[in-house]
Amino acid sequence: VDDNDMQFIKMHEHITDLFHHILIHTNEGEAALNYLIDRGFSSDILKREKIGLAPKMSSFTKNAILEKGFTEEAAYSAGLLSRNEENFSYYDRFVNRIMIPIKNHQDYVIGFTARSIDGSEPKYLNTPETKVFQKRHLLFNLSDARKSIRQQDEVILMEGHLDVLKVKSVNVENIVGLMGTALSDENINLLDRLASNVTLMFDGDNAGAQATMSIGEQLLKHGLNTFVIQLPRGMDPDEFIVENGEAAFRDLVKNEKRHYVHFLSEKLLNESMHNDLAYSQNINALIDALKYVNDSAIKSRLIMHISERYNIDKSQIESRLPVKNPVKR
Ligand code: CTP
Ligand code: MN
Ligand code: MN
Ligand code: MN
Ligand code: MN
Repeated sequence: VDDNDMQFIKMHEHITDLFHHILIHTNEGEAALNYLIDRGFSSDILKREKIGLAPKMSSFTKNAILEKGFTEEAAYSAGLLSRNEENFSYYDRFVNRIMIPIKNHQDYVIGFTARSIDGSEPKYLNTPETKVFQKRHLLFNLSDARKSIRQQDEVILMEGHLDVLKVKSVNVENIVGLMGTALSDENINLLDRLASNVTLMFDGDNAGAQATMSIGEQLLKHGLNTFVIQLPRGMDPDEFIVENGEAAFRDLVKNEKRHYVHFLSEKLLNESMHNDLAYSQNINALIDALKYVNDSAIKSRLIMHISERYNIDKSQIESRLPVKNPVKR
């Protein structure tokens, strides 16, 4: 963290406090505050997370930054202002949005994800890549979750920022959020240093299933024990809690955790039914994935499962598996 980084951080910490004040204590914030309360975000969460509102003004941030003695250029480099490329004037990047601060791993605010509340697109607008806000190095909520991740030797990964915040409020702490749809190699190495077990809990829609397939494969092939918690069709973690309550959510996390290969096997089963070519290819994919399963008890259970579901002899699978996980250190 050099002086320049520290300046970016100071601007963000300052503006975070102002946005938060507007949401909680002003008339301007009332509609957004009610929206959040209606969605089940208590004022405790909003305060702890310093959720805010960027008001419906084009130079609120700009003026606040100037008043504090920073330059427009610096605020632009930090991703707080946008620039008109014709006359080089600066204006606020975030207008009329709920502001969710994003902290780096040292617990400093370095960016925002900002949800629109008037239907304007995009639904979420993030801080652009800056010197201190680099998505490939970030995982949402990591600074708060680190201790619990280490204690439990497990990290639960979610898609949505609001999912993470809602789940924290029901006392599940080892949660981090993706910063977009991909997981970078840096993200994976970071997770690997913290825990041996990664659980994916993505939205219960097609996009969530696709992300589970691709990110699950990445993690497994990195040598991590990879699990999946599947949500009911059409629900994300936040919606599940609103719909079914905290106890049901904790029950899901405690009792419905399948190995990634189990998830994969169920996903590929349908298309294998009446298509022998797909059957053969899918068996190959499952055997390839099984190579990376570290725990021999789980591996044996997975072989049993696949053998039953795909009508294949266990020995057919076992004979094609190496004795050792190719990446196991
Ligand atoms: N996302 C994004 N830009 C979008 C849509 C989504 O960056 N236009 C990211 C956000 O980080 C978002 C995550 O993808 O949190 C999941 O998207 P989605 O499921 O659509 O949003 P939710 O988190 O469920 O948000 P909400 O409940 O407020 O609709
Ligand atoms: Mn590890
Ligand atoms: Mn989604
Ligand atoms: Mn949602
Ligand atoms: Mn969602």
